[in-house]
Amino acid sequence: MSELKQLYAEIARCQKCEIAKLRTRTVPGEGAENAEILFIGEAPGFHEDQQGRPFVGAAGQFLDRLLTSINLKRDQVYIANVIKCRPPGNRDPLPEEISNCRHWLDRQIALLSPKMIVTLGRYSMAMFFPGKTISKIHGTAQTENGVIHFAMYHPAAALHQQALRKELEADIKKIPAILAQSKAAANPPPPPEPQLKQLNLFEV
Ligand code: URA
Repeated sequence: MSELKQLYAEIARCQKCEIAKLRTRTVPGEGAENAEILFIGEAPGFHEDQQGRPFVGAAGQFLDRLLTSINLKRDQVYIANVIKCRPPGNRDPLPEEISNCRHWLDRQIALLSPKMIVTLGRYSMAMFFPGKTISKIHGTAQTENGVIHFAMYHPAAALHQQALRKELEADIKKIPAILAQSKAAANPPPPPEPQLKQLNLFEV
């Protein structure tokens, strides 16, 4: 069993918050264990709680379409949430729930070691861009300890607001170039071989 799968088993036993009693399943996250990009949403909703999988409802379908627009499939990235249990009635996660759950996400990040973390929505953004406002920083990247952090609106917000849909569609398209640029900076091409001076046999 991979360390990530062991982590899922530990998460499934977690009873730290009251909402643990209300869940059908924990939703630890899923995707490629060697993914370069980790998407972090907010919290499981109804369908996620039923299936134990992240982003499987309407917001998830939109996320899938966003991924397709940059030639990625769900199983090439990793998708997780700030909290692993569904808040009742899909209310916002409480500060205590976020801090109780934080160590699971930290362990997940350590195991995945992604090149890029994409935050989806305000709660996820607040973890990696403290004190920032989503309307100001969405679509921008910041590198910390060698990991690119990139903020986006939450896909669910785009389901109700056409303007945000356009922002999400534009923001996700920036990801491939940002990733390629950071790879190029990390592995600069070797300097050209010094040219050997051509031998001129007639030189005196
Ligand atoms: N919204 C989230 O933030 N996460 C999910 O898994 C589903 C909807």
